[in-house]
Amino acid sequence: MNDPNFQNDDLLDIHNLKTYFFTREGVVRAVDGVDFKVKVGEIFGLVGESGCGKSVTSLSILRLVNPPGRVVDGSILFQGRNLLELTDAEMRQVRGNRISMIFQQPLPSLDPIRPIGDQIVEALLVHKKMDQRQAWKHAVDLLNLVGIPDASRRSHSYPFELSGGMAQRAMIAIALSCEPELLIADEPTTALDVTIQAQILELLCDLRSRLGMAIILITHDLGVVAEMADWVSVMYAGRVVEEASVNSLFEEPLHPYTRGLIESIPVLDQDRKRLNAIPGVVCDCINMPAGCKFAPRCKVQIEKNMTICNKHEPHLLEVSPNHKVRCWLYEEFSH
Ligand SMILES: Nc1ncnc2c1ncn2[C@@H]1O[C@H](COP(=O)(O)OP(=O)(O)O)[C@@H](O)[C@H]1O
Ligand SMILES: [Mg+2]
Repeated sequence: MNDPNFQNDDLLDIHNLKTYFFTREGVVRAVDGVDFKVKVGEIFGLVGESGCGKSVTSLSILRLVNPPGRVVDGSILFQGRNLLELTDAEMRQVRGNRISMIFQQPLPSLDPIRPIGDQIVEALLVHKKMDQRQAWKHAVDLLNLVGIPDASRRSHSYPFELSGGMAQRAMIAIALSCEPELLIADEPTTALDVTIQAQILELLCDLRSRLGMAIILITHDLGVVAEMADWVSVMYAGRVVEEASVNSLFEEPLHPYTRGLIESIPVLDQDRKRLNAIPGVVCDCINMPAGCKFAPRCKVQIEKNMTICNKHEPHLLEVSPNHKVRCWLYEEFSH
């Protein structure tokens, strides 16, 4: 499966990805020219408010976007091969063996009428060519690995018998059964309560170090990214508006949108209330403003009355080797 010419440490290299939904109301430009790279073994945070195109980006990687949506442009190189050019059969191989995904809600992704052990065994029989006995033993090992206590007994439990946190662990075990090089975790803890959230995030960090897989961690919570990620892309209205190493992003956030997100990170003794949420809402992806998509909500644009922001869209500029931003404030860096 590997491209013999693939040698660098870019596991995933997305370029100019555009995914649109052709609805009766108009064309929804959910993802509109996204670029980013994920390196082997890294935790890559993809952040932004709800509706910014994070999930559509991840579904595009796995080629799971359904009509009326479709990828209309761009390339998604995984280990050097463009996933958008694979046959359906080749893509099924990638999904079963190389890239796994876990979702916000574990229960709908689990089969309600089969014990969780069964569900892992099935994945192992299909993808790893093990016999029944080996597969059961390995399934129990995986349940142990994700921290399910009394794993051999629990392997016979049905999904509804598990708590939310345990169901999420079971889903992670299924996702790991193919030993993926890349795990996409789409808001994996949003549905869980705070202490369980922390445990699941810790588990993901631990698995990354033990198994060496890369993780795309999708979240609307920059606090989570600060704790876990190596590299971060901030999305707004279907675009990457800032990209940086995690240290650079938090030491010197450049985009007014990113600064707004950082100011709205919940503080524990504030009862996780978002006291400083950015005013306004994400523009709808059908009628986008002409210039910078964030301009209508941007304090800096309004204070400084920067007319260019409403007229022309800025490019994603490299302001230092590990920091890019799409904002007219930094245009001078491009010369
Ligand atoms: N099936 C669909 N049909 C039409 N629009 C969609 C569909 N799925 C997602 N979208 C739109 O695409 C945009 C991005 O959605 P999504 O990727 O789910 O956001 P996020 O995961 O960042 O919250 C939103 O405006 C959403 O309404
Ligand atoms: Mg989403």
